[in-house]
Amino acid sequence: MNVIAVSGSPRKNWNTEKMLASALDGAQSLGAKTKLIRLYELNFKGCKSCLACKRIGAQRKCFVKDDLSSVLEELSNADAIIFGSPIYFMELTGVMHSCLERFYFPYVTYSTERQTFFGRKLPIGFIYTMNVTQDWIRQMPIANRFAEVTKELFGVEPEIVCAYDTWQYLDYEKFEHGIFSVEQKKLHREEIFPKELDTAKQLGISLVQRVKQFNDQ
Ligand SMILES: Cc1cc2nc3c(=O)[nH]c(=O)nc-3n(C[C@H](O)[C@H](O)[C@H](O)COP(=O)(O)O)c2cc1C
Repeated sequence: MNVIAVSGSPRKNWNTEKMLASALDGAQSLGAKTKLIRLYELNFKGCKSCLACKRIGAQRKCFVKDDLSSVLEELSNADAIIFGSPIYFMELTGVMHSCLERFYFPYVTYSTERQTFFGRKLPIGFIYTMNVTQDWIRQMPIANRFAEVTKELFGVEPEIVCAYDTWQYLDYEKFEHGIFSVEQKKLHREEIFPKELDTAKQLGISLVQRVKQFNDQ
């Protein structure tokens, strides 16, 4: 079983990738083979609206050729996927948005007869990491339209896990930080972030369990 994590963070091994690594750990603990793909290492753009994927009789895939092409192929063959992104302006990062446009759009139908061109159930998880606190996010939830259409396209409600109040700088004293309480951030990093890492691990476990359930059906 192959579980792929896609990182939409520009920072290697920071908050988002730590959460993704923990999710992959969880998946591995149930025997899955795992892989991390870093979008910031690839040269690609979002959907070009060539609409080749909507041609009658065409294969349902993205026809654009660039660094993302082979990634999209891997994602369409994966047993489960975890998309991880820092939150920028209360949304996914630009690269993650571009990747998801290219991955999701070929499976969107303009047909009245079917809801999706993806032919099986594919469990998908989303991990978001952000500066704001959980209380704050209750008032202004993260906008992710891709999560909203995931069940329609891939047959399974997505699982979403978050890390809040993240540690953003190596040394807060050297950067602007007036609106943050560094003490609170430190406390969060030491006491809460390990628990958030554990929720990411549980996400990896849960996705693999779902795949096993579907395979047994
Ligand atoms: C361009 C930019 C925009 C950001 N916008 C938000 C935001 O709207 N809300 C928020 O909570 N954090 C915001 N952040 C903070 C990051 O989401 C947060 O530090 C995240 O955990 C970083 O992930 P990383 O450590 O994997 O890079 C922003 C950071 C950057 C660089």
